[in-house]
Amino acid sequence: MTALLKLDHLQSFYGSAHILHGLGLHVNAGERVALIGRNGVGKTTVVNTILGLAQMKGGTIHFGNTPITRPRPYIAAQHGIVVVPQGRRIVANLTVEENLILGAAVGRKGPWNLAGIYRLFPILRERAHTPGTALSGGQQQMLAVGRALMANPSLILLDEPTEGLAPVIVDQLADIFQQVADQGTALLLIEQNLSLVVRVAHRFLAMAKGSVVAEGRVVNSPQGLHDIEEHVMV
Ligand SMILES: Nc1ncnc2c1ncn2[C@@H]1O[C@H](COP(=O)(O)OP(=O)(O)OP(=O)(O)O)[C@@H](O)[C@H]1O
Ligand SMILES: [Mg+2]
Repeated sequence: MTALLKLDHLQSFYGSAHILHGLGLHVNAGERVALIGRNGVGKTTVVNTILGLAQMKGGTIHFGNTPITRPRPYIAAQHGIVVVPQGRRIVANLTVEENLILGAAVGRKGPWNLAGIYRLFPILRERAHTPGTALSGGQQQMLAVGRALMANPSLILLDEPTEGLAPVIVDQLADIFQQVADQGTALLLIEQNLSLVVRVAHRFLAMAKGSVVAEGRVVNSPQGLHDIEEHVMV
């Protein structure tokens, strides 16, 4: 099977700061993969490299069978790879609905449209004409997820989507991620909340110091949680 996303021996930099050291990973169609690791190990830099926001000086990126030498956000989106960025980045001057419509700009065909997003997140329909940044943190995260789905992605990269959110909102988002994955969209979930990881992911990749140092199956049980916790301690 050809992976939707494949990174091999990545070397990534911000200026002269060398952040990713030979990182490799892949995500297959429909997979639910978690990328875990402590603050500062380079998780967001993986996303930024895929989007061309961190500089790749070695290694390869493939979107499906296509080698990507000059990554850009729109190139990823054209290949069905969409990011829900850390910190959400809702466009301030746009309403909720305008933010959602922006997500569809890439013009990929698929099952998701405004009506579907509003069924998934009824609160967004209620607040459709409110400025996106007037929403609560949890609602903004729902908007960020909805905006990503509007691109009809085959893979969503979620960068710490529950950071700073109340447990009840985290539970709602976990259900949504499961629903989205059940419909066949692959997930790469970057997450420090490991109880969320065991609920959503089927496979984990653990990072330390700019590379993937362990991987394995995720089991949704107290023992499964314990097993992956060890990999974030190192
Ligand atoms: N724009 C930048 N310029 C220089 N260094 C950066 C830049 N952004 C991040 N870094 C550094 O790169 C390293 C990896 O950062 P990154 O944001 O990828 O970590 P992370 O694993 O996502 O952390 P967190 O869990 O806190 O989000 C850190 O040492 C960070 O200080
Ligand atoms: Mg990060």
